[in-house]
Amino acid sequence: MGLDKHSCIGVIGTGTMGTGIAQVAATAGHQVLVYDKDNEALLRAKHSLVKVFNRLIEKGKYTQGEVDTIMHRIQWVDGLGRYETCDMVVEAIIEDVEIKQQVFKQLESVTHDNCVLASNTSSLSIASIANVLKRKHRMIGLHFFNPAPVMPLVEIVPALVTDDSVTESVKSLMDHWNKKPVVAKDTPGFIVNRVARPFYGEAIKMLEEGVADIPTIDWAMKEIGGFRMGPFELMDLIGNDVNFTVTETVWTQLFYDPRYRPSITQKRLKEAGWYGRKSGRGFYDYSEDATAPEPNKDKKLGAKIVDRIVVMLINEAIDAAFLKIATEKDIDLAMTKGVNYPKGLLKWGDELGASHVLDALNKLHREFNDDRYRPSALLQRKVREDEQLFDFI
Ligand SMILES: NC(=O)c1ccc[n+]([C@@H]2O[C@H](COP(=O)([O-])OP(=O)(O)OC[C@H]3O[C@@H](n4cnc5c(N)ncnc54)[C@H](O)[C@@H]3O)[C@@H](O)[C@H]2O)c1
Repeated sequence: MGLDKHSCIGVIGTGTMGTGIAQVAATAGHQVLVYDKDNEALLRAKHSLVKVFNRLIEKGKYTQGEVDTIMHRIQWVDGLGRYETCDMVVEAIIEDVEIKQQVFKQLESVTHDNCVLASNTSSLSIASIANVLKRKHRMIGLHFFNPAPVMPLVEIVPALVTDDSVTESVKSLMDHWNKKPVVAKDTPGFIVNRVARPFYGEAIKMLEEGVADIPTIDWAMKEIGGFRMGPFELMDLIGNDVNFTVTETVWTQLFYDPRYRPSITQKRLKEAGWYGRKSGRGFYDYSEDATAPEPNKDKKLGAKIVDRIVVMLINEAIDAAFLKIATEKDIDLAMTKGVNYPKGLLKWGDELGASHVLDALNKLHREFNDDRYRPSALLQRKVREDEQLFDFI
């Protein structure tokens, strides 16, 4: 049985992500059941949705009648027992494999045989969560981006054990939700959280080396690179605790590949509680009387900064294609729709020229004698055979 607009959707966990996912599902016309183990969190979610919809009414996006209809589709329930009618359940609880396994085991015992069991995990393998289930083939990763109602990208992550028909029906459901679904292999960081690592890591590395200071690197990436936010501004927004943990998780899960090695600088920020905006201090000072530091708007220096980060990002994108983590089309879509990059990285590589990307990486590799800069085998092959980065199968 496939999923369609009549399917009943369950959401578990009403934190940042679960609340947004429930909003998206109800807006797409589904009956939605929502549960959180913490009753306060459930109430907070209900109030925050009312606020969100009131703002949307003020902006003229919905009428009060439409919002009432959407809100009536959501049932706030006090246990998983009610999930027997669900055709798909999206779990968005704490990032802990054992707790997630327990919840899915319980879900499996109440849901019908065809119910799709989806996890919004950012960093756990879908195979490890599915492992405790009897009907493993119904389990899939469904990775939304924050805020879920705004960000169009959804990474669909079938595990080795997932049935192809489940992947297909979740994909068509995401089309119905007006999302941009991409399919990613069940590997650390999926597409976005893997490919984006150098955006942060290479910026910090340049800071450590004294190539430029924080405001200059941010200025260059925005003004010359065309990114919406600079790396340091973005790390402060995400939180240096969260961003460091994602990097460390990807690095350890990829068996300590130096390409993903975290930095001591960010680790110290985390240890000091300099998380960023939420703590009032991160790479920048957010106190009321702080003055914003001035960038050095040297265009030549700016171009050098952008080129170094962008060639590293392109190398990640082409390596993800090489390892069949996703198709080249989905890799470019993921970075533009999930993290708002100004261009798809493979297309960007073609604009710069694959041989320029390779030369720049080889130069860094020689200079630092660090495997962090090793070029992807596919990039080398493309240059050898004079092929575009984007036009392969
Ligand atoms: N925050 C993000 O930017 C983001 C983006 C993509 C994916 N994710 C992933 O989404 C998931 C949720 O993240 P979040 O940021 O919304 O977390 P959150 O801390 O904001 O919310 C988690 C909620 O789950 C509830 N919960 C915990 N254990 C539960 C259980 N056993 N049963 C029912 N409810 C339970 C908590 O009470 C809490 O309300 C995580 O797996 C995270 O990795 C987060």
